[in-house]
Amino acid sequence: MNVLVLGSGGREHAISWKIAQSSILNNLFIAPGNAGTESVGKNVDLHPNDFKSVGEFCIQNKIEIVVVGPEDPLVKGIHDYFAADESLSKATVIGPKKEGAVLEGSKDFSKKFMNKFNIPTAKSATFTKDTLQDGIEYLTKMVGPYVLKADGLAAGKGVVIVDDLSSAKKELKEMLTESKFGAASDKVVIEQFLSGVELSVFIVTDGTSYKILPAAKDYKRIGEGDTGLNTGGMGAISPVPFANREFMDKVENQVIIPTVKGLKAEGIEYTGFLFFGLINVKGDPYVIEYNCRLGDPETEVVLPRLKSDLLDLFDGIATGTLSERDVEFDPRTVTTVMTVSGGYPEAYEKGKEMSGMSEVKDAVPFHAGTKIVDGKIVTNGGRVLAVTAYGKDIDSALARSFAGVDTINFEGKYFRKDIGFDLVS
Ligand code: AMP
Ligand code: GLY
Repeated sequence: MNVLVLGSGGREHAISWKIAQSSILNNLFIAPGNAGTESVGKNVDLHPNDFKSVGEFCIQNKIEIVVVGPEDPLVKGIHDYFAADESLSKATVIGPKKEGAVLEGSKDFSKKFMNKFNIPTAKSATFTKDTLQDGIEYLTKMVGPYVLKADGLAAGKGVVIVDDLSSAKKELKEMLTESKFGAASDKVVIEQFLSGVELSVFIVTDGTSYKILPAAKDYKRIGEGDTGLNTGGMGAISPVPFANREFMDKVENQVIIPTVKGLKAEGIEYTGFLFFGLINVKGDPYVIEYNCRLGDPETEVVLPRLKSDLLDLFDGIATGTLSERDVEFDPRTVTTVMTVSGGYPEAYEKGKEMSGMSEVKDAVPFHAGTKIVDGKIVTNGGRVLAVTAYGKDIDSALARSFAGVDTINFEGKYFRKDIGFDLVS
């Protein structure tokens, strides 16, 4: 098979690394990729949102599978673009059409969907500029903390959680009347605060059947002890000790099955990955959000635990025969620790020369913000490289991830030394 992976992060390096192990792979391309994806396939200088150029490349290179890493091209309709063009419609796009990607693209849509199909989620109401006063009244009747969510995509920054009522009212006004998050906050979802530990669960689906991938926990804050600003993710662990059989049965019965059936009932053909951002509230799963893609850095721990051939699962999506495919997982624990540029998630410098990647032992360095300049690998983003390792438990896997992190050097390197702190006893 000829495969094109779209994206340039650690997630896309992990997806490409896994696909490169497939016995049914012919050629693997990554657009635009990074310095790491170049070692498992061929990077192509294309932007994932430039559908026309991506389509032309697919025709020229006889691409059969297009794996869409990030949400943006999906929400903008890359799958619809391929489906509408006869010369492209034979390629299978791994990721939903616009009508399915809206589960991530609109918080208001996803809340209505969950309520309609009785999927456990925080109580909420949606407001616009015209109903600002109703929104303020709604806040007044709640108890804090107050959760305000911009309806649309806001580069992961559209959720604001504040403790006091006056800040909540101010935030609501700024979001609705001052376009704090641009058009993304034309609608705002106000939600009940849920207290518990979060985890990420993923399925891969052909629209009818699904396979549940291993659960993972990511660490979003920049500072140790989960403090400071939110980031794209500073590390991840799989499996998640509290996501035991009993909990995962609830996830499957109360969340996954009603979601897959609900999509079908709504006439939405959903294929690809679906990511459930969950919170464990006293042993019961609640959905915080849906994403129409895999998580980053969760992918860097989930796919290394997949023993089965990922391309075989994609072939199951292409042919609507996913239910006949085997899926097997590695029972070991996998951890990843993200190294980031000094200053991230605020201003940081790029272009710092990197060293030590080839000396990493017993761990896999997945590249995120890296690129090759004049034959040298340099930093090219906030999140630079995720070091993934296996172990018999969290401590032994983490020891290998941290040893790998120590081996890699670049000016300003920062990482969290406490990944998994809340999971080990
Ligand atoms: P989201 O973009 O919807 O995943 O929200 C970003 C983060 O805000 C989540 O990962 C949670 O940490 C937090 N969050 C979102 N909704 C809630 C909620 N209802 N209760 C508590 N925390 C929340
Ligand atoms: N790690 C969370 C995400 O990918 O959205």
